[in-house]
This record gives sequence, structure tokens and C-alpha cells, in this order.
Amino acid sequence: MEKKNIDWANLGFSYIQTDFRFVANYKNGAWDEGALTEDANVVINECACVLQYAQTVFEGMKAYTTADGRIVTFRPDLNGERMEQSAKRLEMPVFPKDKFVEAVLKTIRANEAYVPPYGSGATLYVRPFLFGSNSVIGVKPAEEYQFRVFTTPVGPYFKGGVKPLTIRVSDFDRAAPRGTGHIKAGLNYAMSLYAIMDAHKQGYDENMYLDASTRTKVEETGGANFLFVTKDGKVVTPKSDSILPSITRRSLMQVAREYLGLEAEEREVYADELKDFAECGLCGTAAVISPVGKVVNHGNEICFPSGMNQMGPVTQKLYDTLTGIQMGTIKAPEGWVVEV
Ligand code: PLP
Ligand code: COI
Repeated sequence: MEKKNIDWANLGFSYIQTDFRFVANYKNGAWDEGALTEDANVVINECACVLQYAQTVFEGMKAYTTADGRIVTFRPDLNGERMEQSAKRLEMPVFPKDKFVEAVLKTIRANEAYVPPYGSGATLYVRPFLFGSNSVIGVKPAEEYQFRVFTTPVGPYFKGGVKPLTIRVSDFDRAAPRGTGHIKAGLNYAMSLYAIMDAHKQGYDENMYLDASTRTKVEETGGANFLFVTKDGKVVTPKSDSILPSITRRSLMQVAREYLGLEAEEREVYADELKDFAECGLCGTAAVISPVGKVVNHGNEICFPSGMNQMGPVTQKLYDTLTGIQMGTIKAPEGWVVEV
């Protein structure tokens, strides 16, 4: 398959339209079979539930070219499961996990010419999503839905690749206790837009959100979970019911224990403890692991000993092992890497 003529090494994280997307429709209580289409546009009524009441959930995944030239994706079953959970929380019909994985693989296969080559630093980002499509004016769930999967080739999420980030403790909250922080709903991102624009205006790369009820505990950023490394080399990640259960983070905790022989602990992390950590990183599909060099908490600068020039040594090992597994140079745990 001939690849598209794209400058893979200089891609940012932005949308480039590819040739095919998968579309399935839900009507009269059932999903149709779904099919690939070349039409990238969605035509819906002005009063569609997604437009009026933000009834939409999504997923984010990637396709990789391995060192030996295969195209693979990473733990798609977990994205399928998470989308089921997200759909239930917003009163949407579940698009079954098996069909989800099938649709993702089919869409990647159809866009093979856009899967960046091994070693280019780029990947094919895959965006499955589900939304209420019929008109609804009283506040209630839609009766008709559309599930779609599109792809777009991407480079690093943060400009500057793996240069350590500077983030601030946000005065805005991302998610309420017993709210929707644990699912991947568009509404969580809509309400973070003001905060991220404000952070950028003030010169920060991202926001560190705290728990909304006590504002003492670290939650996550707008698009990634946190990982910390203690001065004695233990990996720590915040435990909270109002953060997204990141598949990257769950995988990294297992990598830390089983590949690197490190202790890895999920527990509540207090903002007051930040100064005690040796390393900090953001982890997610888009972020991979992006190192954080500095957190600013209302004028108080917390500089991690790993510094502002490179990833900390443990973060680097986690990054190398995870990306090695994804790109096929390190043996993956059973079921993690799925060939397209
Ligand atoms: N947290 C938020 C808010 C996200 O949007 C994402 C991205 O998906 C993550 C965490 C990381 O999750 P994952 O590793 O499953 O991509
Ligand atoms: C992802 O990592 O897939 C996300 O959805 C995060 C978003 C900030 C792009």
C-alpha cells in the first residue's frame, strides 16, 4: 500500500481528513450493521440532542506501524468497555464492545495509507464517538443515535515534543463528585475550554485540576492523568472517582511493576505533597507520557528535580517500555497489541 505524501515528522496534533470513516445508526431500538463511507460530514436537525444538550461521548486511540511493518492498535477492548460505561451514564444505547473493536479495525484498515511509517514519530489517531441525533426540546435523551469512527494522522500532543511542561494549579474545577469526570463525555471538555485558554494566556501548558469538594487533592489535567515518581523510585498515580480511568495509566502501572520491577501505587495525592516528588508526567493516548518540569500553585513554584530539559529517568524508562510494546520492539502482555 502506497502511503500518502505527508510530512510525517512535522505533524502536530490537528485534524487532517482521511478517506474513510465508519458510520452506524440507532433507530427504533436497534443498531444497523454500519458501513464505511467517504462522507466526512454529519447532517442532523438543528434541535438534535447532541447540539442542545451535549449528549455525546467519545474515545481516543492510536494505530501504529511496528518495527517489522505491521499495523497494530493498543488495547481496543478497553476503549470499547469505557465507551459502554460512558454511554450508560448519559442514557445512550451501548454500541457493543465487540462491534466497536471491529469498526475501529475496519476504519484503520481502510485508511492504511495514512498510518505513519515506523520511526516517523507520528501515529494515526482514531476517534470513535456516539451522539444523540434526533430532535429533542424537553430535557430528555434522544431516541436516535449515530456511532462514527474517523482517523487523523497526528504528531505530538504538546508542541515541542518531549520538552518538560509548565502547568498551573487551576482555580476552575473539571468534574464534580458523583458527576461525569469518570466518563469520556464531550461536556467535560466543553467546560475545560475556558480554563485551558486562560492557562495558555498566562503562559502555562496545561491545568492541574484539584478535587472539587476539598480542593486539596490532585485529579488530572484536561486530557491526561498524572503519574509521579517519588524520590525513592516509586510510581504514584492519583486515585479518584472523578477522573477518567486512563488506559495508558493503567498500562503504565503494570509496566512499572512487571517490566521495570518498580513499586506502583494508586492513592490519593495531596497538592501539598507535590514538592516531595522527583518526577511528574502526564499520560494518555494523545499525551503518551509528557514530562512536567514545573507546577505553579498560586505563585508557589514547584520545580521537579528532573528539570526543564529532559524527562526524568524513571519517566523515560516507562516511556521507552510502553512505546516499545506499542511499536513491537518489546514483547507485549497477552492481548495488549492487536493486529489490524
Ligand atoms: N484523562 C482525560 C481527561 C483524557 O481526556 C484522557 C484521554 O483519553 C486521559 C485521561 C487518558 O486516557 P487514555 O490513556 O485512555 O487515553
Ligand atoms: C486522548 O488522549 O485520546 C484524548 O482524548 C485526549 C484529548 C486531549 C485529545
